[in-house]
Amino acid sequence: MDITEIILHQHMEQRRTFAMLDEVPREDTKTLGSIWNRLQIFLENHADAEERFFYPHLLKLGTGSADADSVEEEVEDAVKDHNQIRDAIQAASASEVGSSSWFDAVTRCRIENDDHMAEEERQDLADFRLHASLQLRHDIAVDFLRYESQHAAKGIIPRDRDPEQYIEQAGQTA
Ligand SMILES: [Fe+2]
Ligand SMILES: [Fe+2]
Repeated sequence: MDITEIILHQHMEQRRTFAMLDEVPREDTKTLGSIWNRLQIFLENHADAEERFFYPHLLKLGTGSADADSVEEEVEDAVKDHNQIRDAIQAASASEVGSSSWFDAVTRCRIENDDHMAEEERQDLADFRLHASLQLRHDIAVDFLRYESQHAAKGIIPRDRDPEQYIEQAGQTA
């Protein structure tokens, strides 16, 4: 396994799940709510697992890829983006499924997530492929998938992270 492949593949699943919502009639709130619930658990678990298992190692090994000036910039941007995605998820959860405010929040979440995934793929995953060994990429993938699987049914309690504090702490633990 390879954590860069696992993350890339899960991004495709996230894009596909947002696209599924496009296919559901707006009045079918049961289906919309069910797909959304699964998607929001997936988004929260994915971001949390990245912050626990991927970004501390990227911080240690990366140098900044593509249009990132440094690895610190990559990680700071990612943590900020994850917070924005969490905020949009919370806004959707606070709205009635199928209402216009719910659709607005889901769309905001999709935009935040699409922008984030593009940057994460172009900068962070590329940086890691260039600097991490295949063994490390495998080991992180195992930790990542175990954590996500443990929380797949009920999800996690989401919490925002302060990007600067995260970089300071993650740099010490990886
Ligand atoms: Fe991701
Ligand atoms: Fe991410």
